[in-house]
Amino acid sequence: MPRITINGVQADFTPGQTILQVANALAARGERTEIPQYCYHDGLSIVASCRICLGEAWAPNREGKLEAYMGGRLVPTCQTGAVDGMVVYTDSPKAIANQKAVMEYLLINHPLDCPVCDQSGECLLQDYSYEYGRGVSRFEEAKVKQPKKDVGPRVYLYSDRCIMCTRCVRFTREVTGTAELMVQGRGNKEEIDVFPGLGIANELSGNVIDLCPVGALLDKDFLFQQRVWFLRRAPSIDPLTASGDNIWIHHNEGRIYRVKPRTNMDVNTWWITDEVRYGWRFVHSKARLRSPMRRQFGALIECDWPRAVQECVAKLRAAAAAGSRVALLVSPMLACEEAFLLARAVRAIDPGAILGVGPIPVVGEDRTFKNNTVSPGTTATLAPLAGARRAFTVCAEKCPNARGVRRVLETFGGALDSKAFLEALGRGRGRSDVAGVVLTGNFPSPWCTGELVASLGGKFVVVVDTLESPLLDEADVVLPSSTWAEKSGTFVNHRGLPQAFERAIEPIEGTRPEGQIALDLEAELATERSAPGGVAAIDPVLSLIAVPPLRYDAAAARAQMAAASPGLADLVREGAPPHLAVRGEPDMAVVEL
Ligand code: SF4
Ligand code: FES
Repeated sequence: MPRITINGVQADFTPGQTILQVANALAARGERTEIPQYCYHDGLSIVASCRICLGEAWAPNREGKLEAYMGGRLVPTCQTGAVDGMVVYTDSPKAIANQKAVMEYLLINHPLDCPVCDQSGECLLQDYSYEYGRGVSRFEEAKVKQPKKDVGPRVYLYSDRCIMCTRCVRFTREVTGTAELMVQGRGNKEEIDVFPGLGIANELSGNVIDLCPVGALLDKDFLFQQRVWFLRRAPSIDPLTASGDNIWIHHNEGRIYRVKPRTNMDVNTWWITDEVRYGWRFVHSKARLRSPMRRQFGALIECDWPRAVQECVAKLRAAAAAGSRVALLVSPMLACEEAFLLARAVRAIDPGAILGVGPIPVVGEDRTFKNNTVSPGTTATLAPLAGARRAFTVCAEKCPNARGVRRVLETFGGALDSKAFLEALGRGRGRSDVAGVVLTGNFPSPWCTGELVASLGGKFVVVVDTLESPLLDEADVVLPSSTWAEKSGTFVNHRGLPQAFERAIEPIEGTRPEGQIALDLEAELATERSAPGGVAAIDPVLSLIAVPPLRYDAAAARAQMAAASPGLADLVREGAPPHLAVRGEPDMAVVEL
């Protein structure tokens, strides 16, 4: 395999890789080969315009002796292909002088507004100023001032912070193919702009904010909301569509502030849709259910969790004991682990319980951005995907885990789809042998149909959901549940790929994950069974102490799933949670005072 030496570190490389790509791969493994870079991005074409990555290079000549490459000129490492036997320095005096010069040029017209800039703390210009810039400015003239522009429904452009790397322009041409952004003007009047009357409004528009290495393109939604150094991040999965896009949830003190893409070359590459990026708002909605409720004298009244769980088990058990059936509708918004625990709990109450998969919302058809390109020799390993799959696809299916829930319920003997489930409840027939129903939702907006509400009459109805809905009018017990950000679990995406996600924030006060609710039901059932005298004679206090419910743990639930059904073992194997650093090291040396 060909070898190259970068800043004294030797490495093998794949023919076709550029020097920077090899250096980035080494740096990702902890080697000290970091090269500053602004205009380069793995997912875009290479233009070598910012010139910060230049390095000195030597390569073997025909006799095999090292000689200065390209006549000894500094070469753009992002664009120059690695050569077998090449030696490159980006920390030589000549390369460092170039880095300082580039930084000085970039900062000539750049405003010194880091204290009020949203990008502060995650800005490459700021970081490289410390690492590669001068400590002082020699520029005494007036800086060129450019206006702040509203360039789209999601994006502001602070033109005078722009360093003209053109990443954003290339994204709209090469990935979305919409080309809303352009460069206009020359010299120090050069600026990014949109075409008159056209904003950047494509479905992937938020990605230009992530691509911008400085604070020029900013997120309207996140503007002045939080300093980035207060944010912590948790690896997660798109909770709104079947795409399984990998995301980071950025949060602080129990509140989500933004969602960013997490690179996964097998799934979403570097991008996410605006739908996924901005779809988390329902987590903090005012319409969230925040307390269990039970129906008393015709009205729903708030109660505590033990009372609500006890009433659920007692009434569902009574229904089953009277010869009727219990039915459970498992939402495709829930994790596989929760589907397993809920089905197990309800089957423990009624071994003949009917299981169904909730409604699967579909909006239009899948749409693929055909222009998605990948830099040749990119540092990320490309999965052997078919060409069609490598292009970015917006999923029409608006739930994250229909396949996972169905797979889990099949191990319990199969599940009805939502239409058949409605028929089992007696839709159109007016009678059914179902006397107790457990409905789970967790959709980001109202989801129940009039038909579902109408088919619940005369039954004991338990609603496990996150938001208020017309279902509450029919509910006898309401159990408020937690959204995906408040729990861990596994989703199976539209290609059948299981992916685990981590809890980002604590459950909103008063709510519990559906997995926890299932464990509470099982604990209550065990208590009831062990109590002498049956349902009516249970001491409500002692019963809770007798069998304390387990704490919901997605990993433990996965292990139980695999033990119960070897067919689900791959959910444990392939759905293992990503072991990613959730907090970065400080990027500045701490000065002891
Ligand atoms: S707005 Fe940002 S991404 Fe676009 S050219 Fe300027 S610095 Fe680069
Ligand atoms: S990163 Fe190489 S020239 Fe910009």
